[in-house]
Amino acid sequence: MPGTVIIGTQWGDEGKGRFTDYLAKESDLVVRFQGGHNAGHTIIVDGQTFALQLVPSGVLYPHVTPIIGNGVVVDPAVLLAEVDMLESKGVDTSRLKLSGNAHLIMPYHQELDRMTERYLGRNKLGTTKRGIGPAYADKALRVGIRVQDLLDPKIFREKLDLALREKNGVLAKVYNRLPLSGDEIAETYLKMLPRLEPMISDTVFLVHEALEADRPVLFEGAQATYLDLDHGTYPFVTSSNPIAGGVCTGAGVGPRAINRIIGVTKAYTTRVGAGPFPTELAEDDPISDLIVERGHEFGTNTGRRRRPGWLDLVMLRHAVRLNTCTEVAITKLDVLAPLENLKLCVAYEGEDGTRYEHVPYHQSVLHKVRPVFETLPGWSGELDRNVERLEDLPTAAQDYVRFVEDYIGVPISFVSVGPAREQCVVMPRAA
Ligand code: IMP
Repeated sequence: MPGTVIIGTQWGDEGKGRFTDYLAKESDLVVRFQGGHNAGHTIIVDGQTFALQLVPSGVLYPHVTPIIGNGVVVDPAVLLAEVDMLESKGVDTSRLKLSGNAHLIMPYHQELDRMTERYLGRNKLGTTKRGIGPAYADKALRVGIRVQDLLDPKIFREKLDLALREKNGVLAKVYNRLPLSGDEIAETYLKMLPRLEPMISDTVFLVHEALEADRPVLFEGAQATYLDLDHGTYPFVTSSNPIAGGVCTGAGVGPRAINRIIGVTKAYTTRVGAGPFPTELAEDDPISDLIVERGHEFGTNTGRRRRPGWLDLVMLRHAVRLNTCTEVAITKLDVLAPLENLKLCVAYEGEDGTRYEHVPYHQSVLHKVRPVFETLPGWSGELDRNVERLEDLPTAAQDYVRFVEDYIGVPISFVSVGPAREQCVVMPRAA
């Protein structure tokens, strides 16, 4: 079956959007399967920048049907604002489909996200405060409200009142906040129904119809492997499963629907929010500022400065396994251009001197490991952003890419050398 998945192999912000955009060209459907508007995909087309949070990147191609799958949590106001933004830039959004089974992010989810973070104090997770965690928690508790509930205002109101009975109790008694008004929430949400209704669909059916007809379907991951609820650096993770396996539950397909899995990594590492990060650069290391400035490493969504570090091949190889990646794409190679030497983490050393060549499962160990680096020479000069073949890059840049490939054991299929759609080396096997 012609299913392709794009996932992040690090802590997000790897530049997945540009590859989704690249592969969407040959896809009929582009499907988001998890996360919500905590994601931020930036795509630059003909000099125009599109910052997308919820709508799949494929929306920019007129032949693509963009789908928000059942595994996504949706703030409908954000969705409509994004649709308006796209329309104002001349993008036709009429093909956009929204799963009736997707859960809604409600105002109390956002309020509870803010409150729990505040109460955690210095132990806070550094969430995007978009209500993602509380919305997924309600889904698991079976008190969530789904997109399809909007189609039946009476049911919607009943579910809302039931939820508010508990949420307002918690907000008032635990967090000392004013209760939220059911009337106001119901009015706001139901007012959006006329615009949402044409999008609401049986997205599982649409995906299978395409797969059975051998039409290419692209599953677009948001966040990334080490933010995965099960496999990431818990509790510093998001509340969904961004790994390739998440496609199965979040879009309603079995593993055999997928035949290509592309893991995206930056040529270095970044992370936002709290949590362990073995190859993190010291804050006063000038290379830290250089990477942040050259890589524009500030959150698309929250504007927060990202924490930069060297590429961690131990984590990357583990991510390749967790996702059964068929290949890996490297982004932002150009950012490293001025550096004389480049470090790649090939192992960790624990406090007791133990050498780890895999990610230690015990997080107390991971928090304290020291990275073991291999140092490669840099190419000390800007890359030509118009190159099309790896062989056209400086030898040191080629060596860097080959070193990564040898370590992780799967082919590198794309290398991006600039932010624009065409500034990308496509390896022959991926073309
Ligand atoms: P939440 O997803 O808002 O609950 O945040 C949980 C963690 O995931 C925090 O550390 C966030 O910074 C991180 N996170 C969520 N979405 C993204 C993303 O798209 N890129 C990078 N980090 C993210």
